[in-house]
This record gives sequence, C-alpha cells and structure tokens, in this order.
Amino acid sequence: MSFLHTLWITVKLIPLPFVVLWKVLTTTHASYNKTRSLQRICADATFRYNLSTFTIPELRATLGSSLKVYTKWAKEANVPSVVDELGEDARLLWIGPKRLDRVILVAHGGAFALPALPPYFTFWHYVRLEMERQGVECGIAMLSYSLWPEASFPQPLNQLRMAVAFLLSAGLQPHRLQLAGDSAGGNLTMQLLSHILHPHPNVPPLTLVEPISAVHLLSPWVGLVGETASWDENASIDCTSKEWLVRIGREILSKGFGEDDTYRAFAEACKADPTWFHGIEQLVSGSIVITAGDKECLRDDVLKFGEILERHHPKVEVVVQPRGLHDDMFLDAGIGKPEVGVLTPLIIDRLLSGFK
Ligand SMILES: *[C@@H]1O[C@H](CO)[C@@H](O)[C@H](O)[C@H]1NC(C)=O
Ligand SMILES: *[C@@H]1O[C@H](CO)[C@@H](O)[C@H](O)[C@H]1NC(C)=O
Ligand SMILES: *[C@@H]1O[C@H](CO)[C@@H](O)[C@H](O)[C@H]1NC(C)=O
Repeated sequence: MSFLHTLWITVKLIPLPFVVLWKVLTTTHASYNKTRSLQRICADATFRYNLSTFTIPELRATLGSSLKVYTKWAKEANVPSVVDELGEDARLLWIGPKRLDRVILVAHGGAFALPALPPYFTFWHYVRLEMERQGVECGIAMLSYSLWPEASFPQPLNQLRMAVAFLLSAGLQPHRLQLAGDSAGGNLTMQLLSHILHPHPNVPPLTLVEPISAVHLLSPWVGLVGETASWDENASIDCTSKEWLVRIGREILSKGFGEDDTYRAFAEACKADPTWFHGIEQLVSGSIVITAGDKECLRDDVLKFGEILERHHPKVEVVVQPRGLHDDMFLDAGIGKPEVGVLTPLIIDRLLSGFK
C-alpha cells in the first residue's frame, strides 16, 4: 500500500468518530438494538461507514486478497494455514485441519467484489470447534474465488465447481459434503445447484453420483435491485446501505449476466421460471437452511426465494432472526463474539444433523 493511499484512507476516516457517536446517540435505544452491545453498535456503524465511504478498489487495496486475510488471521488465531491451490486463481483455505471424510465448503460473501473478511474465519473456526465439542469432527474449507471487476459471472461459479470436483476426486463422498454460503456466497452456492440442473455452456459440467448432504444459505443475496419493501423499511438500520448494494447489484447484473437472457436466471433466481429449481430434490438429500435478519434489506427477497425453493424441495427451512441485520453472525464475529446471536447455535445444530 502506498503512502498516498494510506493518507487518503486516513483523511476519509476523519468523520468516522462523529458518525459513530451520532449513531450511538440516536440508535442505542431503538427497539432493534435492544439486545446489542455498545461495542456491536459501534462496529456496525463503522462497517456501514466504511462501505459507503470507500470505493471497492480502496477497500480492496486496504484489505488485500482472501488469501492474505486468511494468512494473517491464521497467524493471529494460532491456527496452521493449509491452502489447496486449485488453479485458475481458485483456492481452498482450510479453517483448521484439512480432512476429507466430512467437509463443509464455504463460499464467502462480499458482493462478489470483496475478499473474505476476518470475521468469516472467526465465525467458521468457532463453528468447527463447537461441532468438535459436540462430537463431530469435520473439515471446513473456505473457497477463495476471483473478484469483481477483474472477474465476473460465470468465473466464480466455475471456481466453486472446481472446488467441489477437487474434493470429490480426493475421496470425499457427496453425502459427506455440505455447502454453505453467506450473502454473495449464498448466491454462488445456488448458482452451482443451478448449473447442475441447467449446465452453463461456458462452465464444465458437474455431475454427482449421489446427492450432497445439505445446503446452508445465510442472508443469501438473492435479489439485486432493491424492489421489495424491506429494502426501504430497514434501509437506515442494516449494515449495508440500499444504495451500495443496489449499485453493485446493478453493475454485476448488467455486465456479468446481461448479455444473454437465458442465463439471467442464474443471477435473478427470484424471477426465474417457476420450474427452474425443479430437480433440486435429487441434489440435496438433507435440508436447505435459509436464514435472514428481520431488519435486513434483503429479508423479503430471501423469504420469497425460500418460498420458491419450497416448491421443489421437501426440507427447506427458513429462519428469520428477530432484530437481525444482514450477515448478523459475522457482525458478532467481527467483535470476537460469534456465539451470541440466536442463529449461530441453530446453524451448528443443522450442520451437525447434516453429518448424522
Ligand atoms: C473500516 O476501515 C478502516 C480503514 O480501512 C479499518 O481500519 C477498519 O478496520 C474498518 N472497520 C470495519 C468494521 O470495517
Ligand atoms: C423494518 O422491518 C420491520 C419488519 O417488517 C418493520 O416492522 C419495521 O417497521 C421496519 N422499519 C423500522 C424502522 O424498524
Ligand atoms: C445471484 O447473484 C446474481 C447477481 O450476481 C443475482 O442476480 C441472482 O439473483 C442471484 N442468484 C440467486 C439464486 O438468487
């Protein structure tokens, strides 16, 4: 990072203490913050400020790649870093020991434009340890995929396909594989299932000899253009602003998916043909768990998406966290408290069931 970049970032951060103080003064007593600590309220305000103040290139320059974030996190958490290079800029970052008897493959969020942030690793590390404590050892691998604007659809999809193919050829049995993804990662996970059902011509096919075990979608980014009521009702509350998500969503939609209407369903599954997910029952034997925050902009889109999936899969479970924000568990993990949200034990429970 250059001196000028650092200086510019510092200048842009000058208003931050005032913005945070204002948020604390005006929202601490709001009902949706009833169960939140002051530390969480400050962290949420900082996060929202960062997203709305810095451009994607600025955020990327400050954060570095997912690999860089992971390496630094692993060192600080005193966890060995284990990386599988898959080629084509895709890699698996193992959160804890690599094992191939039971695997949770995680696709991280960040609007397809940001790397995996430290709270992702903190959260999934906590999940792994907690599952181990409850008697189930598994490997958790985070996919590092190429980011927007250098990469666009269907490159991340192909990279997720490569990750699954890599794990299966290394001996993992599909029924011992669970897929998880938050936000854009939830979207990417659904792209993979779409691809198995409707192979994309520019991505090699993926065939499963048996269904995978389960799928977990946390605040999945399934509606890109902010058309439902929750976008406006809760826009000032959520950790991402409507303007930010909608702007990036529109860019990604026009550049990445726009040229050919046939593949738009990969992007806007909410609006896809009602039969698009027909056959998903044969791909996932256990449950498809979908979570959302009651106060997040994406809430209505996520609920609608859950209803669409329910028509094609018998074990869809949609859980809404009261007063929850977008990716709420990662906001808790960001202040070192991955265990406090109500969704965390639920997700751990469903992941444990996925390996029964
Ligand atoms: C916000 O951005 C600053 C500057 O890049 C960084 O130091 C800080 O960790 C970020 N905080 C959050 C919560 O994103
Ligand atoms: C946020 O969403 C909830 C749930 O629909 C709604 O009841 C509430 O009025 C919205 N807005 C605010 C400011 O809380
Ligand atoms: C995935 O993201 C695209 C944009 O990148 C979006 O249009 C689409 O709705 C998302 N997929 C699903 C399954 O909702």
